[in-house]
Amino acid sequence: MVNVIFCGFGEGMDKRVIAKQGDLLLRVAVNNGVLIPTECKDGMCGSCAVRIEEIGYVPSASTHASAVDPDGWDKDKYTTYMEEKELSTLVEMGAISKLEAESAQQYAQQTPVRLACQCIIKGPLLVKPFE
Ligand code: FES
Repeated sequence: MVNVIFCGFGEGMDKRVIAKQGDLLLRVAVNNGVLIPTECKDGMCGSCAVRIEEIGYVPSASTHASAVDPDGWDKDKYTTYMEEKELSTLVEMGAISKLEAESAQQYAQQTPVRLACQCIIKGPLLVKPFE
């Protein structure tokens, strides 16, 4: 079980909830009364885009920088496989750059903007609206 914090979604929707690892972010939001706009629910339209931050992980004891290799891979972060469909939609809507999409694929890490209908929860998250 992990914490998911929704912040900036409006009155009554900013809350901390407990989710299971492997849950779909959109389902967790809906089940807890947090309104995230949707249309396709298939990773194609981009209407469910949200900003996310992984929270609750502690950087290496010495310095945080030591956990990041020269290519930018942060070994402390969760491994997350993002589907090509989601990455393409995020690039098309200008939410992430093509380089960010390529890095996400190469290092199996998620981008700072995700599609809630495609985002499988791997660890504690802070979730904010994408505006
Ligand atoms: S609802 Fe269309 S991409 Fe998520």
